[in-house]
Amino acid sequence: MVKQMAIINGWELLKPIKVGNKKLKNRMVMAPLENHLNNADGSVSKKLIDYYVERAKGGIGTIIVQNTHVDDQYSNSALSQLGVYSDNLIAGLNELAEAVQAFGTAAFLQLGHGGYQCNPNIAKRQPVAPSAMLSVTTGVTARELTIAEIKEIEDNFAIAARRAKQAGFDGVEIHGAHGYLLSEFLSPYLNHRTDKYGYDRTLLGRRVISKIRNMVGSDFVVGYRITACDFVPGGLVLEDACKAAPMFESEGIDYIHVSAAIYETGYYMSASSYMERANLVELAAGVKQVVGIPVVSVGSHTVETGETALREGKADLVAFARGLLADPELAKKVAEDRIEDIRPCLRSGYPCGKRFAQGLSMRCEVNPACGREEEYRILPAGRKRTVLVVGGGLAGMEAARVAALRGHQVTVLEKGDALGGLLRAASVPDFKVEVGQLLAWLVRQMERGGIDVRLKTEATQDLVIKLNPEVLIVAVGSEYGANRLTASGSVTGVQVLEGERKVGKSAAVVGGGLVGCETALYLAEQGKRITLVEALDELPEAWVNGGLEAGLMLRIEKANITVRTGWHAEEVRDGGVVCLDKHWRNHLIETETVVLAAGLTARTELVESFQNCATEVYAIGDCVEARRIHEASQDAWRVALRI
Ligand SMILES: Cc1cc2nc3c(=O)[nH]c(=O)nc-3n(C[C@H](O)[C@H](O)[C@H](O)COP(=O)(O)O)c2cc1C
Ligand code: SF4
Repeated sequence: MVKQMAIINGWELLKPIKVGNKKLKNRMVMAPLENHLNNADGSVSKKLIDYYVERAKGGIGTIIVQNTHVDDQYSNSALSQLGVYSDNLIAGLNELAEAVQAFGTAAFLQLGHGGYQCNPNIAKRQPVAPSAMLSVTTGVTARELTIAEIKEIEDNFAIAARRAKQAGFDGVEIHGAHGYLLSEFLSPYLNHRTDKYGYDRTLLGRRVISKIRNMVGSDFVVGYRITACDFVPGGLVLEDACKAAPMFESEGIDYIHVSAAIYETGYYMSASSYMERANLVELAAGVKQVVGIPVVSVGSHTVETGETALREGKADLVAFARGLLADPELAKKVAEDRIEDIRPCLRSGYPCGKRFAQGLSMRCEVNPACGREEEYRILPAGRKRTVLVVGGGLAGMEAARVAALRGHQVTVLEKGDALGGLLRAASVPDFKVEVGQLLAWLVRQMERGGIDVRLKTEATQDLVIKLNPEVLIVAVGSEYGANRLTASGSVTGVQVLEGERKVGKSAAVVGGGLVGCETALYLAEQGKRITLVEALDELPEAWVNGGLEAGLMLRIEKANITVRTGWHAEEVRDGGVVCLDKHWRNHLIETETVVLAAGLTARTELVESFQNCATEVYAIGDCVEARRIHEASQDAWRVALRI
């Protein structure tokens, strides 16, 4: 629908827009993303420049460079965070701004203070906040700021903006979102002060804006990122944001960027695939009704939802964060009307969110070049070779794709009647739409890359030897190993998802990892009575990956799935499955079907059988070890880039 409108009238996303005095070439914005690619002291590194240049080259109109800490006292909120706390950092920031601007992309720098979410191990000080409070994420109680300290923070923001201007940036964005200091002051949940900064919760934000404006003058863009809903009881709601936004506008901001949530509710900020797309767009629409300046909408946008938001007048610009990690050329592909070629973000949060929480550098499961743009650049191979890939799952297709892009002549043998391997089962639930999109994308790339795909062709040693490839890549995946449960009549999660085996009105799903949780949810949402059995004391995927999979847990709770942790499934019997709890007590879970969703094992014997079939043989993906999409993609790229 959107695409047809776009063909007739042109994409709204591509139309230029003026923000403050700056003309932006289109309405697509890269949202700020901390990535730990900078140097440990917070200075700009070559890797960081490469990462942003890749996205600027990809046609994005504006890049909001990630959250930087404005002072070297309390503001640092993450390990290895980019800084703007010293004049010594200006030179590096200037290199970055100019590198981005060389592609006609505007460069804004986000200025932040972590408040009570600062990690005390980094600043080596007790975190500070509007009021004394315990952070559930750091486990540390922050202390209340004095008035003198608040004034110093306001000044530090202004000095940081001056540095950004000196570094040649086109503007700054004040980080007033996500439970960091400025959003803490605005939030009734987090600000319990009884002085003027408590009576008027907008005061800190307003003062920061006016001090910045006085410092940088009128010819420099100043934006504000706001949390328009905390999503906690007693927290800030849209009405509060709508009161604050016009006040911030009066103080001199040029645009407002509408995000949401605090750390505890971060799964609304970077929503996972268990939540809807464009999940925050109505908040942007609400703010847009009360301000005259441009409004940026962010939160799980695709180019289609972004286009719709613009057409429906809910926003003036659309920001993409994870979508640009997955595909740096997203904007260019819109301009070329090739949206079917955009590589989709899976919204799993793994590894981008998880690595962020661990203080590790940015990686993306579908784009292994993310965060190491130069080392992983796909360059023509020195010599064109014949490459045979055995197995048309994710790892096999990705290796074939990259090898073909490098100029090799690639053939893929796939035993089944379609490409995809486990991706096919994984994409069945409605909350895995993006996995289906990735599969479709990969299949399309096989065609575009001129790869010789042979379906229904089982690779035998004889066939491989006959084809005589210079390089053999084995990507034969994993399977459920035989065990006492399979022997006694269970079905597997893959069989269920692929519709090969039917499930009765009730089922026990054995294995509480990601596959188990998703299979259980898929079945429960069909109205079946589901018990999920996990041997560990808690569901391993429960609250990991920076909280992104919390979306899954919320949905599991809503679907009334009975969760039995610390229970071992022992035996499948007529009428159910016998489990042993951690106190060695037996329980019979009465169900019609038992679904095994754990125990995928690598097909190592099959891999071994191909060892002598070519002079150069590599094994990649789940046939090395059953893991996730990220690891399979990485394996594929490592091999495809070295052959
Ligand atoms: C790894 C990671 C780092 C982030 N870093 C920042 C940041 O530096 N500043 C900020 O305001 N938001 C940050 N965000 C939030 C994003 O800017 C964005 O609001 C959110 O991911 C939703 O957009 P998306 O669905 O397009 O990813 C981060 C999100 C992720 C996943
Ligand atoms: S790691 Fe996954 S969730 Fe994160 S940006 Fe890449 S595809 Fe999206």
